[in-house]
Amino acid sequence: MNFDEIIDRRGTHCVKWDMMETLYGVPADEGIAMWVADMDFRPPDCVQQALRGMLDHGVYGYFGDDRPYKAAIRWWMETRHGWTVEPDWIFTTHGLVNGTAMCVDTWTKPGDGVVLFTPVYHAFARVIRAAGREVVEFPMPVEDGRYVLDLEGWDARMTGRERMLILCSPHNPGGRVWTAEELRGVAEFAKRHDLILVSDEIHHDLVLPGHRHIPMTLAAPDITDRLVMMTATTKTFNIAGSHVGNVIIPDAGLRTAFGTRMLAMGISPNSFGMVMATAAYSPEGAAWVDRLVAYLEGNRRVFDDGVNGIPGVRSMPLEATYLGWVDFSGTGMAPEEFTRRVEREARIAANHGASFGTGGENFLRFNIATPRSRIEEAVTRLRAAFADLQ
Ligand SMILES: Cc1ncc(COP(=O)(O)O)c(C=O)c1O
Repeated sequence: MNFDEIIDRRGTHCVKWDMMETLYGVPADEGIAMWVADMDFRPPDCVQQALRGMLDHGVYGYFGDDRPYKAAIRWWMETRHGWTVEPDWIFTTHGLVNGTAMCVDTWTKPGDGVVLFTPVYHAFARVIRAAGREVVEFPMPVEDGRYVLDLEGWDARMTGRERMLILCSPHNPGGRVWTAEELRGVAEFAKRHDLILVSDEIHHDLVLPGHRHIPMTLAAPDITDRLVMMTATTKTFNIAGSHVGNVIIPDAGLRTAFGTRMLAMGISPNSFGMVMATAAYSPEGAAWVDRLVAYLEGNRRVFDDGVNGIPGVRSMPLEATYLGWVDFSGTGMAPEEFTRRVEREARIAANHGASFGTGGENFLRFNIATPRSRIEEAVTRLRAAFADLQ
């Protein structure tokens, strides 16, 4: 696997490059796409071969027999995360935005509150609002340059209308890998306020050296009766277009409720996603992820060294994910101005911080999962765009 290879994704209907001009005004022929969270890399060969097998066979009928898929999940969670997953705990949704929507639909009703620790992955709020529920935002304080939780402070702000808490673990954006103590604190918070706790762990494999992700169910085994875990192969292996995700529910009562909603919505998986995911969760896939994470760590260093050299600009130290979260507040510029410089002068499309909720306003999120030469070029352009601050 050569992560340095530049693969031209333009004209392939990929949202990242083919929508950047429409959404950010940055033309793809001269711009650098550093926004939506997918990578500019091909997945491991085991995934490509599985797809080739489907293509050679050439008949694309309904998918059946998910036992190998579930066995692969079990193997992955056991070997990579020390977590034993039973096959009947696993529901397969059309990705985890769909999984989130299904959870909101199953355990809340219109008007109920859903708690988010912001800034956080923007689709959570989008789904909650579209379903007629209320987003209850608790902005995370920053301590020593990284996000922390203020659970005791937030206790006082609960109204009693909240029914669910969606945790992003590891966190997007900001890249925190929550400690066991923090996870137990969140579990206790959910218990105190009688909330269903949805733990979105889609970034759990993309943990940078020196940190260790702990699945919520291992950190807080005593809250199983209110816990929903969500994982996927899509972020780890860059197969997000396959739209397959896992909602994993150890509690039998919660499973019945969720399974009933799945049936009511007529949700069943697509064969391409199932075949790719099964192939990905393998020793070959695991070796690829180890190399990927080492490469991402190299990119992170180049990116951080570059942008942190601009006076007033600070990249949060990433513990996980490939999503650099950059604070421009030290420049004294309004978001319109630093965003204009990044888009119009550096010709880089990066996610606007405000879209992640309260607390994100002075940030931009830069996707660094791209060949290193592009990161180097991006850093050069950013330094030029803010050269007057030097
Ligand atoms: C925390 C989190 N959850 C879910 C998703 C998207 O999930 P899916 O593509 O499976 O719908 C993302 C994508 O960036 C994410 O960061």
